Amino acid sequence: MVTAIFPAAGKGKRMQAGMNKVLVELEGVPILVRTLARFSRCQAVDRLVVVVAAHEVEFVTDMLTRADREYGLKPWLVTAGGSERQYSVWNGIQAVQGAADDDIILVHDAARPLVSEKTILETIRVAEAKGAAIAAVPAKNTIKLCNAAGEVVETPDRSRLWEVQTPQGFRRGILVRANQQAMAESFLGTDDASLVERLGQKVFIVESDYRNIKLTTPEDMVIAKAFLAAEEENE
Ligand code: CTP
Ligand code: MG
Repeated sequence: MVTAIFPAAGKGKRMQAGMNKVLVELEGVPILVRTLARFSRCQAVDRLVVVVAAHEVEFVTDMLTRADREYGLKPWLVTAGGSERQYSVWNGIQAVQGAADDDIILVHDAARPLVSEKTILETIRVAEAKGAAIAAVPAKNTIKLCNAAGEVVETPDRSRLWEVQTPQGFRRGILVRANQQAMAESFLGTDDASLVERLGQKVFIVESDYRNIKLTTPEDMVIAKAFLAAEEENE
């Protein structure tokens, strides 16, 4: 059983759309709906858990009921999130009833509608084989480690640096333990794998592609439109 959890309970402040960015339309279709439709086209994915702010649960449920008629979504449910992405993901994990420890949970930012089927399938495959898998791309830029004064401390070897994306896939038991330990230690990570790494559990990279961007600032919308147009040309 493969369950995909979609954290979508952010405010989208950097997008400056005056609303939760994942509810904004990209070429006529809300970003969240695009993301869910993509996962629904993957045979290996069994169900979808969408995590939104408590005050958006009703609105999003209506939106997805309509989207389901149009796109045929995998079985889905909507639940309320928290003040941090990590809390939203934890709420999503808890909303899944009757799951086994070796079921696979994929966590995918609702704000990444351009993920490829290949990346989704490969993340599932490696998570099943190894317990923890994350989509990523080789860093294109040189990255510097600096101190608080803005002084460069170190230049890590770029050939070993990966920019991490989602989906991130885990055996459920591992992800549950990682979140429980993070909560007990008041650790807040910037991705799900960082919690799993703290367990001493090995996490493996799945090479994704540069189109799987997280729509974060207004210029990302321009880029996403170009990628969508290119996809349509190739269809
Ligand atoms: N997210 C969430 N719960 C939160 C914060 C974020 O579920 N408390 C989700 C967002 O909806 C998004 C994903 O996590 O799909 C990645 O977060 P980000 O890109 O930072 O989105 P926002 O937090 O909405 O944007 P911003 O930080 O600009 O306000
Ligand atoms: Mg945020």
